[in-house]
Amino acid sequence: MPDLFDPLTLRSVTFRNRIWVPALCQYTVSARDGVPTDWHLVHLGSMAAGGAGLVIAEATGVSPEGRISPHDTGIWNDDQVAGWRRVVDFLHSQGAAAGIQLAHAGRKASVYPEWGVPGKGTMPVSEGGWQTVSASTLPFTGYEPPIALDAAGIDTVVADFEAAGRRALEAGFDVLEVHAAHGYLVHQFLSPLSNRREDEYGGSLENRARLLLRIVAALRAISDDVPVLVRFSATDYAEGGWDEAQTATVAGWAAEAGADFFDISSGGNVTGVTIPTGPGYQVHLASFVHDNADVDVAAVGLITTAQQASDIVTSGRASAVLLGREMMRDPHFALRAAHELGVELDYWPSQYLRARWS
Ligand SMILES: Cc1cc2nc3c(=O)[nH]c(=O)nc-3n(C[C@H](O)[C@H](O)[C@H](O)COP(=O)(O)O)c2cc1C
Repeated sequence: MPDLFDPLTLRSVTFRNRIWVPALCQYTVSARDGVPTDWHLVHLGSMAAGGAGLVIAEATGVSPEGRISPHDTGIWNDDQVAGWRRVVDFLHSQGAAAGIQLAHAGRKASVYPEWGVPGKGTMPVSEGGWQTVSASTLPFTGYEPPIALDAAGIDTVVADFEAAGRRALEAGFDVLEVHAAHGYLVHQFLSPLSNRREDEYGGSLENRARLLLRIVAALRAISDDVPVLVRFSATDYAEGGWDEAQTATVAGWAAEAGADFFDISSGGNVTGVTIPTGPGYQVHLASFVHDNADVDVAAVGLITTAQQASDIVTSGRASAVLLGREMMRDPHFALRAAHELGVELDYWPSQYLRARWS
């Protein structure tokens, strides 16, 4: 089994280690133009300087109406590409691979950002919000109802993901991640709890997976070199909902369509469920998908110590770990973990050499 600090190669990209940063929305684009800011440079850049192998930029709208809030980043125009290029160049200068999470929030779009603007739930059009779309007209609890996408609308979503993928490569990103988790648009199609369609995008598992598989195939067609990741919520934690078995089956299909790696999270599509959180609470979901679909996976969720991260990788339960909140507390977690595990790194930032633990 590999070690936490062993490199990992996917297609043309070699990650220097298996300590990765997942997408973390910052709700910081107060100009509402989707262009990443200095905050994104420092937030993501510090984790790259801190030794992470891959840093994935936050859920980034493939279209204006795909953003969760007006303060999210986007990747649908040239100004955004230029803004991201500056961030990506810095991540590369620190030896980290740069990923971007391509996202459409569907019925969970057009909400107030988590901070900075007073208000909760759906942001009205009068304040800069917009009409949301989804698989069906069922609203997310407490939000305004979406419009169900028609066939042309679905084609547009696929085209937006493809164009966003091309722009991401223009900006220099090494990795494209499809956000199919947390109750956002692709998850809304996957789950029977949010998808009540009666056309070829609803009903059977094959039909509910069709949007995701079209997006994966479209991204794969852009380049043979770029790793395509898919982030799933492996379960809705609800009777009659999306679950581990469906996730594993669709992960297998997505791999056939060109996806290389799966980032396994959970929940987010329905409220009122109990999520059994605790240290490493989603690791078993990642290893279920790994074992049942025979695909490579990363584990995420309350992984906070070097030994815990190392055990997950060396036991073969996941090929990599993603640390979110721990990385925000300590962007140099990877450097610290190497010290704690007795691993010698040759990528300490030169500026910080004198700070090495002796
Ligand atoms: C501030 C914050 C923002 C987040 N934004 C995203 C996001 O943009 N996309 C996503 O898939 N998950 C997002 N998540 C979930 C994290 O990627 C991660 O899966 C979750 O925090 C669990 O990992 P942790 O316990 O290491 O933080 C976010 C979490 C936090 C705390």
